Amino acid sequence: MKKSPELMDKIVSLCKRRGFIFQSSEIYGGINGFWDYGPYGSAMKRAVEQLWWNYMVETRENVAGLDSTIICHPKVWKASGHLDKFGDLMTDCRDCKARHRVDQMEDAAKCPNCGSNNLTPPREFNLMMKTYVGPVSDEEHVAYLRAETCQPIFVDFENVRISTRMKLPFGIAQIGKAFRNEINPRNFIFRSREFSQMEMEFFCNDEDAMKWYEYWKNERIKYYRDILGFRDEEIKIHDHETLAHYAKAALDIEFQFPFGWGELEGVHHRGTWDMSRHEEFSGESMQYFEQETGKKFFPTVIETSVGVDRTILALLCHSYDEDMAESKKEGVEEDVRVVLRLPAIVSPVQVAVLPLTKKLAEPAEKICRDLRRFFRCEFDVTGSIGKRYRRQDEIGTPFCLTYDFESVEKNSVTVRHRDSMSQDRIDVNQLKAYFEKAIYK
Ligand code: GAP
Repeated sequence: MKKSPELMDKIVSLCKRRGFIFQSSEIYGGINGFWDYGPYGSAMKRAVEQLWWNYMVETRENVAGLDSTIICHPKVWKASGHLDKFGDLMTDCRDCKARHRVDQMEDAAKCPNCGSNNLTPPREFNLMMKTYVGPVSDEEHVAYLRAETCQPIFVDFENVRISTRMKLPFGIAQIGKAFRNEINPRNFIFRSREFSQMEMEFFCNDEDAMKWYEYWKNERIKYYRDILGFRDEEIKIHDHETLAHYAKAALDIEFQFPFGWGELEGVHHRGTWDMSRHEEFSGESMQYFEQETGKKFFPTVIETSVGVDRTILALLCHSYDEDMAESKKEGVEEDVRVVLRLPAIVSPVQVAVLPLTKKLAEPAEKICRDLRRFFRCEFDVTGSIGKRYRRQDEIGTPFCLTYDFESVEKNSVTVRHRDSMSQDRIDVNQLKAYFEKAIYK
């Protein structure tokens, strides 16, 4: 089923209303391509990052983590090719002053904004963001904010290898911010100028590289299907027809966003390009010595690279739903219920604790305090119970725990399931085990 274009507006509006994502610097009119994650958004972002980290690093013997700086030696970006080649062709409309990426224009001779033919000739535009390090702002002190998180991984390869004593094949993973001066940031958080990436570079022998490429491709698809729960019709593989000269294969995992199919993740065979370039530019050996054979060679790299923000947008698009439910409005039997059917593992709130009345707040608050140590919980006593359920449905809370008068006598509570709206009665002492099973299945 195709997602309707209006869905995007609904998601943007929900994100703002419920504190997931705001435009950065809103009181100053905003700044294009920058977004702030609010209380629920930041909780979800952390959960998404932790889920990826757990799947890619913590549960594997052969992948190590890294947390490098955003600003690196400028030569890193010379070696990687970003300073010379990382750009898009752009054109300006002389009439309406809009700037466009040529590859995104349906008709490169016409301004998509005002229809004018009065366009400047296409020019190269470098996407690296520039700053100065130290007190002098001149060319000698120029530095760049990283455009991808993987370059420091290549640069730190030897340090990681020595400190972990790992042998090929092994991977190094990192999550962090990346910056690109995108000409046309658009589609909410899909294309921003400041965003976060989750990247893993897997170093191996060249003979085994295609085997690992297939392995990581399958691992990543499994992740989207089994862990995030994306439906088959929501994701597809797009094999690249044209490849970089050093690469043997590359593909995108695409997601069906409301504005069409868009790249969620790239799986790339990067050959030995990065390692050999860093050797050339640093003068340090970037080769691996294989004890068993006595051979020295550049490891071949297989990369998996995904944006945190695009994962969040995909999750929101996948989860947004409206159904009819019993109305809380007088004289209306049923009305539209907005519900985010997020996987419990990434929901900003996993368990909402709702005492039926204010009188029952104290014992309910104690239950909430105990559960907070294990799950993301929220306590809410304000408004009717129906309205509180609806609010939790809208932020994707999978379980609402209600403390009622029976709870006082029987030490049990009701647990309402977001998706089916069915309720279970659970003994308070069993709650931790119950939620553990339901959330981490
Ligand atoms: N190291 C390889 C690399 O950076 P990429 O295809 O340019 O490859 C990888 O980026 C992923 O990073 C993309 O699939 C996307 O999820 C995310 N990404 C790239 N540019 C982005 C942007 N401007 N805004 C948000 N996410 C972006």
